[in-house]
Amino acid sequence: MPFPEFPPDFRWGVASAAYQVEGAVAEDGRAPSVWDTFCAEPGRVRGGDTGAVATDHYHRYREDVGLLRDLGVGAYRFSISWPRVMPDGVVNAKGLDFYDRLVDELCAAGIAPAATLFHWDTPQALEDAGGWLTRDITGHFADYAAVVGERLGDRVRLWMPLNEPMVVTMFGYALGNHAPGKTLGFEALPAVHHQLLGHGLAVQALRAAGCTGIGIASNHAPVWPASESEVDTEAARSYDTLVNWLFADPILRGRYPVEELAVAMPGPVVADLAVISTPLDFYGINYYQPALVGASTSDDAEVAGALLPPGLPFAPRPITGYPTTDFGWAVVPDGLRQTVQMFRDRYGDALPPLYITESGCSYHDPDPVDGRVPDADRIAYHDGHLRALAQAMAEGADVRGYFAWSATDNFEWAEGYRERFGLVHVDYASQVRTPKDSYHWYRDVIAGRAV
Ligand code: BGC
Ligand code: BGC
Repeated sequence: MPFPEFPPDFRWGVASAAYQVEGAVAEDGRAPSVWDTFCAEPGRVRGGDTGAVATDHYHRYREDVGLLRDLGVGAYRFSISWPRVMPDGVVNAKGLDFYDRLVDELCAAGIAPAATLFHWDTPQALEDAGGWLTRDITGHFADYAAVVGERLGDRVRLWMPLNEPMVVTMFGYALGNHAPGKTLGFEALPAVHHQLLGHGLAVQALRAAGCTGIGIASNHAPVWPASESEVDTEAARSYDTLVNWLFADPILRGRYPVEELAVAMPGPVVADLAVISTPLDFYGINYYQPALVGASTSDDAEVAGALLPPGLPFAPRPITGYPTTDFGWAVVPDGLRQTVQMFRDRYGDALPPLYITESGCSYHDPDPVDGRVPDADRIAYHDGHLRALAQAMAEGADVRGYFAWSATDNFEWAEGYRERFGLVHVDYASQVRTPKDSYHWYRDVIAGRAV
């Protein structure tokens, strides 16, 4: 099948996040984030890796923007480090200046800047005061959004106050395998409400600062029942509610998906939902793989026991019959089409235009030889997902762009540097960048030359 055609104004992009690439964690007035703290705790991150240096993007951003320019992307999604810009409620001019330079560099290269405000690096001082479990943080977040919006709003084309509030809640506060490492189980629910409220307040602050193109980057995926049995179907439904609709319904419908969840939330929930559902210009979906979920059985205690709190009515199961990445994630391109379709089914006319704000795969690529890194599997991943996306669009979905995760290899959170998601290889010892075959392939896609 020939490679599908995308509309001429479709935005081709790549994405990254501050803590995963910048390094320079103690420079120019940046304060610690929860990830600096988490990485310093023995046993938290594979191999004791940290983001202290990462890809040194803070110093090498010009070279990195040069690579993006040669790639031909129309947009670059990066995140702004909150502890760099507002370490303790006061603006750190040097921190904000860095993003001003980065945005100018992107504009000069003809690349639309797309900024995430919170990609998991909560300032440690705010975490010490209770972090996303407290209502207080939402006001701090809105103040920070206003500062950034006023400074960069004339040039940033797309805004995403939050990245993946589900992952922050589940991994950061419920299960503890991400910073801040709390194991609260369902007691983590206030982190949902406060992130959503922070999102709504930030949307309003950005609008007040004159920004346009405001959305979110939220991870979603179809939840498949492990069998047709009633218990498995019911288990999959509960899981779907918790990982997808708990996060999307408040934003797109102004209510929680089920009453039990609404009553579990702190604060004046109805009034907050009016803020949370402030209209967006787009909704950004991060997609990696579907979830296969069944009713829990006694075996699940052993299978998932390390990660999931006991007593849950559902249990994720391994997806079989599909290739997997070197990270062990199932490669299911049609899951992207299904995700887009489930949003259209659920929200109908209330759904704003969509962006795929992340999709990507980790393969343990070989070191470069003669300036080449062959990564046919990564090409196949993006090829398959773009074909599935084109199908969703042919079925009527309004999708405006696709951001490959990630521009370069980077710090993959609790997995450290082993997982490589980049279109550009990074040798962490020398910081040498080498475009992989997938980079050259994506350049052809963008130029309309892919076959
Ligand atoms: C899951 C993916 C999900 C990702 C979000 C992974 O553990 O398997 O489906 O999108 O986390 O970071
Ligand atoms: C996150 C990225 C992460 C990627 C791969 C997304 O969950 O937004 O920060 O590196 O998935 O796990």
